[in-house]
Amino acid sequence: MARTATLFVCQACGSSHNKWAGKCEACGEWNTIVEEIVAERPPQGLGKVKGRVVEFAALSGVSAVQPRRKTGIEEFDRVTGGGLVAGSAILIGGDPGIGKSTILLQAVALLSKKAKCAYISGEESIDQIRMRALRLGLADASVDLASVTSVRDIISTMDREKFDVVVIDSIQTMYLDNLDSAPGTVAQVRAAAQELIRTAKRRGTCLLIVGHVTKDGQIAGPRVLEHMVDTVLYFEGDRGHTFRILRAVKNRFGPTDEIGVFEMGDLGLQEVTNPSELFLSQRNQEISGSAVFAGMEGTRPVLVEIQALVAPSPLGTPRRAVIGWDAARLAMVLAVLEARCGVQIGPNDVYLNVAGGLRITEPAADLAVAAALVSSLSGVPVPSDMVIFGEIGLSGEIRNVGQPDKRLKEAAKLGFRHALIPAPAKAAKDKKDDLRLTQVRHLKDILPLFTEDT
Ligand code: TYD
Ligand code: MG
Repeated sequence: MARTATLFVCQACGSSHNKWAGKCEACGEWNTIVEEIVAERPPQGLGKVKGRVVEFAALSGVSAVQPRRKTGIEEFDRVTGGGLVAGSAILIGGDPGIGKSTILLQAVALLSKKAKCAYISGEESIDQIRMRALRLGLADASVDLASVTSVRDIISTMDREKFDVVVIDSIQTMYLDNLDSAPGTVAQVRAAAQELIRTAKRRGTCLLIVGHVTKDGQIAGPRVLEHMVDTVLYFEGDRGHTFRILRAVKNRFGPTDEIGVFEMGDLGLQEVTNPSELFLSQRNQEISGSAVFAGMEGTRPVLVEIQALVAPSPLGTPRRAVIGWDAARLAMVLAVLEARCGVQIGPNDVYLNVAGGLRITEPAADLAVAAALVSSLSGVPVPSDMVIFGEIGLSGEIRNVGQPDKRLKEAAKLGFRHALIPAPAKAAKDKKDDLRLTQVRHLKDILPLFTEDT
């Protein structure tokens, strides 16, 4: 009989240790190490049995095009890369209460018009799911509901019923009876996902798996889960705001920089087809410290307001607080402003906020951030009809960014009249799409735009 041994596994990162500790050495999380039982088997070689010789195929061969199932929710379909691929596994992560169950119920309800769909929940009872469907006005969709947690039962059912789409509402509640660990542990989550994904691939079923997220934003427990699935989507948003963003972080069947924007209302999640209008709707015009950045999210231009507040600090070490942007990037912009442009920020607190709760990752926002900071410091507002984009280099040079035309076009469409952008390598026009262009080569050049005329 195989000896059993125990291993201490971190539930946050999946690393294993020989003894218990309060803090995981691998990821630095506290109180995440849990004892798990593993069947110990000595490593074995392959022995004398010969394997089959693998036949190779040519890269240029013809394969059938993967059919995709579209939900009809355009924001969702775009993020998945144009619909769900048969036999693929999609992981959807997000904070509790952000709307994962809601979006998936809405998606399968629409898919059920053309495909056989199942919604399997380990968290809610059938009555609760029905109540939600009623509230969403989806009560007459032909989705098969079940409230089960046993992976063995689910797999037998998938084999018999031959579903096209199956939703597993939360992998953390699923349970394999041949493992001794509790549901939600790394061992259980990993094994349950593996079994479900293998069945889905074999059956050509599209599997949508919900995964909870830990406080630092990782999908709970296993990063390994991210390797096992074809697509990883994050559902993000701020509890204080009504809108939610679905973001692809890995996609074997599509681009990963796309986002879908939704607004949570009484009737569930509604698509937001023009996010710029939403993000700019509450903009207070002619206030110093606010600049509009023309960004790109995947293939789509999105305009957002960047707000900065530079205020004298009562503290010995001034505060630097950032919401929606990278703190290291802010430190860089501040350093370039001080060292290359002679702007004194030193003893002030600096607060930076991307309005509306969007998270920007593009370096193209540098120039808009710098403009907001300079404007807050000088008290001179950035003109309300101006959009800004451009990357800042360490010597203070303004670098070009991708897809300037799309950004400008969106800005013109939304009524902006003026754009502050990097100077192109070739001499360029100073007007485009009815926008007056101010082209800058160095960060210093923006200072006169936001200083009081004396
Ligand atoms: P839910 O989908 O249950 O979140 P998750 O599965 O990610 O934990 O979303 C629950 C939240 O959404 C809850 O706070 C109520 C809110 N909600 C609405 O505002 N409107 C609606 O129509 C629905 C169904 C939920
Ligand atoms: Mg849920």
